[in-house]
Amino acid sequence: MRILKPLACALLLACPGLALAETVAQAHSPDGRIEVQLDLNGEGRLAYRVLRDGKPVIRDSRLGFIFRNGRQLLRGLQLDGQAARSVDTRWEQPWGERRHVRDHYNELRARFVEKDHDRRRFDMVFRVFDDGIGFRYDVPAQPKLQEAQIVQELTEFALARPATAWWIPALEWNREEYLYHRTPLREVGVVQTPLTLRSDDGLHLSIHEAALVDYAGMNLMRGGDGELRALLTPGSPTPVVRTTPFITPWRTITISDSAGGLVESNLILNLNEPNKLGDVSWFTPAKYVGVWWSLHLDQESWAAGPKHGATTANTNRYIDFAAANGFRGVLVEGWNQGWDGDWFANGWGFDFSKPTADYDLAGLARYATGKGVHLIGHHETACAVSHYERQMDAAFALFEKLGIDAVKTGYVCDAGQIERQDAAGGPVLREWHEGQWMSGHHLRVLEAAARHRVAINSHEPIKDTGLRRTYPNWVSREGARGMEFNAWGVPPNPPEHAVTLVFTRMLAGPMDYTPGIVSLTGRGGQEIQSTLARQLALYVALYSPIQMVADLPEHYAQHPDAFQFIKDVAVDWDESKVLAGEVGEYVAIARRARGKPDWFIGALNDRSPRTLQVTLDFLAPDQPYRAEIYRDGHGADWKGEARFRFAREVRLVRQGDVLSLWLAGGGGAALRLVPLEKEP
Ligand code: NOJ
Ligand code: CA
Repeated sequence: MRILKPLACALLLACPGLALAETVAQAHSPDGRIEVQLDLNGEGRLAYRVLRDGKPVIRDSRLGFIFRNGRQLLRGLQLDGQAARSVDTRWEQPWGERRHVRDHYNELRARFVEKDHDRRRFDMVFRVFDDGIGFRYDVPAQPKLQEAQIVQELTEFALARPATAWWIPALEWNREEYLYHRTPLREVGVVQTPLTLRSDDGLHLSIHEAALVDYAGMNLMRGGDGELRALLTPGSPTPVVRTTPFITPWRTITISDSAGGLVESNLILNLNEPNKLGDVSWFTPAKYVGVWWSLHLDQESWAAGPKHGATTANTNRYIDFAAANGFRGVLVEGWNQGWDGDWFANGWGFDFSKPTADYDLAGLARYATGKGVHLIGHHETACAVSHYERQMDAAFALFEKLGIDAVKTGYVCDAGQIERQDAAGGPVLREWHEGQWMSGHHLRVLEAAARHRVAINSHEPIKDTGLRRTYPNWVSREGARGMEFNAWGVPPNPPEHAVTLVFTRMLAGPMDYTPGIVSLTGRGGQEIQSTLARQLALYVALYSPIQMVADLPEHYAQHPDAFQFIKDVAVDWDESKVLAGEVGEYVAIARRARGKPDWFIGALNDRSPRTLQVTLDFLAPDQPYRAEIYRDGHGADWKGEARFRFAREVRLVRQGDVLSLWLAGGGGAALRLVPLEKEP
């Protein structure tokens, strides 16, 4: 038995929290370092806490629900049994940062029931891994809780120690497209997950969720004294409505001594269900080019007319460019009817099967396949999502017929302005990008796309919670402030942004950041705050199985050396390792190409020049490698002409060698390591 509140408080009968707490269940990680304890206090309130090496990481944090259609489910609980099991398996990713994933955890299922009233019940399921925990509510079918209208989940995360937080705001108009703030934890407001934290004793934590299915996305809001509380994204009219039985997404806390440990963790993927689609070998990880950067530079337009980008002639040019350089995909935006006028406001006018008059869809698809290239489809909904759902099956069928096997989707509108209408044509309801209805929408898209063997890259998406394991045709998404901000003449992404992404947004899953802008210049001559070498490093550091070669062909022609790396770099991997990194400061990641012995390294820097010592201990023993090093040249910097100072060199390296990589402010380095034939 433990006393939760100070003794002075416990002596006063009316003191809130006068309650003796009893630990009723616990579980350990396989290595014994992480421990979860579940307590019930004298009021029958349930809390969990997490310790690592015996030291508290998460203090007593409440669990429960507030319902619109019933009393809150919070007090008067008692334990009604528990069960434990251990799992240690391996599974294979069809594509990913690594081929094999070990899933190793101890699970605790603790059953709780109200002592009186309606005797409502739920299970708490905890999975404790060596690198963190996941827990979820599992609510069985029961007479007094048939439909749960969940206004809020009372899940808390009370950090045991002061921490620094890297966060973007939640429930704001521009969805996930914000720069990251770095503040003390006590200064966060309402924030999105993944939320990255570093405690004052150096522990790195990421709070997120896994398997967001038929539920509202979870945000976090500050409570008192290091406490974060779940805040479910609103819905029309209730954040979540579920019929019992149901399970919530997993609430996750990844824990690591190093920042890189967060990146290497497989916890989110492991908490998702296995592949439901079966054979997905029809999806090919690949690089793609397209009619895109020119649109954001305002040199071409989505709308038909004199500036129209999606013309047959222009697309032919991109197909030829892709074929000549070994890129599989050609994305064309503005190919379909509905873009004319103010397309932001015109979602109900989009037609996803009708090309514009100057775009020969079928002829181009044929021309592309003849050259070993595939068009990539584009479905911008401008948030008229029900309108899109009515057309998507026919649209995917059309693409399938034409050999178009990947589609970029888009949901451009302010958060909370998604438009939903039932099949009978009732009133149009507004939903949030991260709400329960959109969690369902994205799965409807994936299932329809999979029926036609199409892979999906969603922009303005719902956040990634690892569902690519279950639906491996959900290959990438945006969901952060990407390269496009560097085109628009708004403040460009500062040097630390991409470094911060590695330790925040990327913990959720792949991102279509659209790297490779070797011209380093946006609209009106706005400088991109990056060196040339850093544009190459982005391909390795920001993982996605589809990577855009985003600049204009004529710009690549001006930088043939840098372009060579973009042609050579792999997009699918057998292994990935973080060689060095601190959140928002610098990172170096090494990845081995899928099915090949070649390694690639990408290093990114914030605005302070530094030298990284990188140990090549991951290379095969007794094997010389040719290291092709693309790095910042002497005097390179993220401002002015110094952005373009660049050097390419070749060295012979072996396992255990230490490379000294100088990174300019806003700089980076990209390496390709190819085994050399051994001496006879
Ligand atoms: C926003 C996307 O992020 C961008 O890549 C796309 O070009 C526009 N929407 C138009 O769909
Ligand atoms: Ca966007």
